[in-house]
This record gives sequence, structure tokens and C-alpha cells, in this order.
Amino acid sequence: MTLTINSNRITNILLLMIVLVTGLVISGCSSTEPTAIVKPTPTRAKPTLTSVVSNVESGMLAYNTTCVACHGPNGIGIKDLGKDWTESDFIKNTSDEDLMAFIKAGRPATHEDNTTGVDMPAMGGNTALTDQDLADIIAYARSINK
Ligand code: HEC
Repeated sequence: MTLTINSNRITNILLLMIVLVTGLVISGCSSTEPTAIVKPTPTRAKPTLTSVVSNVESGMLAYNTTCVACHGPNGIGIKDLGKDWTESDFIKNTSDEDLMAFIKAGRPATHEDNTTGVDMPAMGGNTALTDQDLADIIAYARSINK
């Protein structure tokens, strides 16, 4: 009996300590700007495309390795190969996230949304492109899209 009481007390003390430590951690986090030299990196937000710093210049370089073959110099399109990006309402009206998903998936000629009867290969056929490359290409696309 005494043993049970003792272990209950220990459990209670442990619980109390957990609550106290949690409280300390939480209040530590919500306190105003810490004076520590090393600032904590913001890890709370889920990484999204918008948190990737995209770069138009790198996007143009990546574009010119892969997409240019069908979408043409400066994204003006090539008839029967790839669509014009400069006047694309699709690019204008589609979020970065959705554009990235579109590029990764491609759009075969058989797809119901296909408008040209020509295949848009997944990743433009270049699976070596990273998410960073695609984010940069999307930034480039926005820079030339009217
Ligand atoms: C082999 C040719 C080819 C390559 C390479 C290619 N595309 Fe395409 N792309 C197409 C075709 C064809 C379409 C039009 C699909 C349709 O008819 O709906 C298209 C459409 C698109 C669209 C939608 C444009 C619109 O107005 O509907 C985007 C965005 C796009 N491509 C991005 C890319 C990116 C980014 C790359 C390079 C990583 C790339 N494409 C490489 C052929 C290509």
C-alpha cells in the first residue's frame, strides 16, 4: 500500500515537473526578441514554394537548358511544339504551387485539359531539375508573362 502511494507521489511530482518545464519552454518561445547572438531560424512554418527564394536570372538559365526547346527563345512559343508563355493566361492565373505541380506532371496530348494536341512532358523531359530550378523557372515565367 505504502509502495503504491509512493509511486503515485513520484508520478505526480514527475507530471508537475513536465508541466513546469513545458511552461518554461512555451514562455521562453513567446517572449519578445531574444538577446542571444544566434537567432533561431524560423522553423515553425511549413516550407512552401513561397519560402523558396526564387531567382529570375537562374530561372532563365534553367529555362534555356530545357524548356526553350519547345517554348522557344524568350518564351514566345514554337508552333506545334510548346505554348507562348508571354501571353499565357494559364501562367497568369495559376499559383506558383499549382504551376510547379503542373510542370512536374506535364500534360499529355490525351489529357482532357490539353489545348494543342501536343505532349507537354513531365518536367519538360528533364528529371534532373530540382524544386529550386522549377521555382526559378516559374519566377522567370512571371517576369516575361504579360
Ligand atoms: C517537348 C516539348 C516541351 C518541353 C521541352 C516543355 N514543354 Fe511546356 N508545354 C509543351 C506543350 C505542347 C504545352 C501545351 C500543352 C497543352 O496543349 O495544353 C506546354 C505547356 C506548358 C505550360 C502551360 C502554358 C499554357 O499557357 O497553358 C507551362 C507552364 C509549361 N509548358 C512549362 C514548361 C516548363 C517549365 C518546361 C521546362 C522545364 C517545359 N514546359 C518544357 C511542350 C513542352
